[in-house]
Amino acid sequence: MPISLTNRLALVIGGSGGIGAATARLFAEAGARVAVTHTARSADAAATLAASLPGSGHLTLPAEIADTASLLALRDALRASWGDALHVLVNAAGFTQPVPHADLDALDDVLIDRMFAVNWRGQFAAIRTFAPMLKASEDGLVVGISSIAGRTGIGSSIAYCAAKAGIDVMTKSLARVLAPAVRVMGVAPGVVDTGFVPGRSPEFNARAAASTPLKRLASAEDIASAVLACATSLRFATGTTLVVDGGRSL
Ligand SMILES: NC(=O)c1ccc[n+]([C@@H]2O[C@H](COP(=O)([O-])OP(=O)(O)OC[C@H]3O[C@@H](n4cnc5c(N)ncnc54)[C@H](OP(=O)(O)O)[C@@H]3O)[C@@H](O)[C@H]2O)c1
Repeated sequence: MPISLTNRLALVIGGSGGIGAATARLFAEAGARVAVTHTARSADAAATLAASLPGSGHLTLPAEIADTASLLALRDALRASWGDALHVLVNAAGFTQPVPHADLDALDDVLIDRMFAVNWRGQFAAIRTFAPMLKASEDGLVVGISSIAGRTGIGSSIAYCAAKAGIDVMTKSLARVLAPAVRVMGVAPGVVDTGFVPGRSPEFNARAAASTPLKRLASAEDIASAVLACATSLRFATGTTLVVDGGRSL
């Protein structure tokens, strides 16, 4: 029996983005109070989103996931508003920059370091920062957005694939050490219809849909539904990454 999320507190890091915003909406519709983070680029989008969510007490707060001082300031701000406990942390922030895999020289050290700082270290640092509050809830949940790129080795760059493979293994390690107070889950999409990949064209999207067994791209809501299921239906799961890709990785 799915549980209600009334009185649950959920933090969506990257809540101003496509998957993060859809997740914030589904959690608010299920009764949770939601905090969404934004960078300097997306403060307006986050404010518009929070104002449109059902329920009350939602927050927007700034956070730069590659900067631990910013995450600590986020924790202080959240504690000041909500107190010591947090039930759900969704790690939906990320970026990419396409680099053809065969062009080894184009994947330079600066891009590799940034890729891991944002897409791996950022998710870990957020969990490290919020673990005390998640434990304080005695029923905490982390959901990290991964990608099938971490399994297939096919994706916007080799470094992106590697960072996402690192998320999947981190999910297992942290599920072990944070149990029983906190469950740690991952959701691995295939191609999602958001603005995530710079330069992704309508032609790319049409080809991707045609080559996916379920014959369409994922919507942000498809992925958000899986995140919500981690909190509601899948109560005995931890350390698992759910593939939600329309069969693309088969
Ligand atoms: N879309 C896809 O096809 C796809 C497929 C597989 C996996 N994913 C994963 O899904 C997650 C969400 O992607 P999306 O499709 O929702 O993309 P999106 O719409 O571009 O959203 C990305 C979010 O991450 C935030 N962000 C980026 N860099 C950040 C940083 N350094 N610090 C804090 N926040 C930062 C963005 O904020 P700003 O807008 O302020 O930059 C935005 O809120 C990512 O982890 C991505 O790897 C996406």
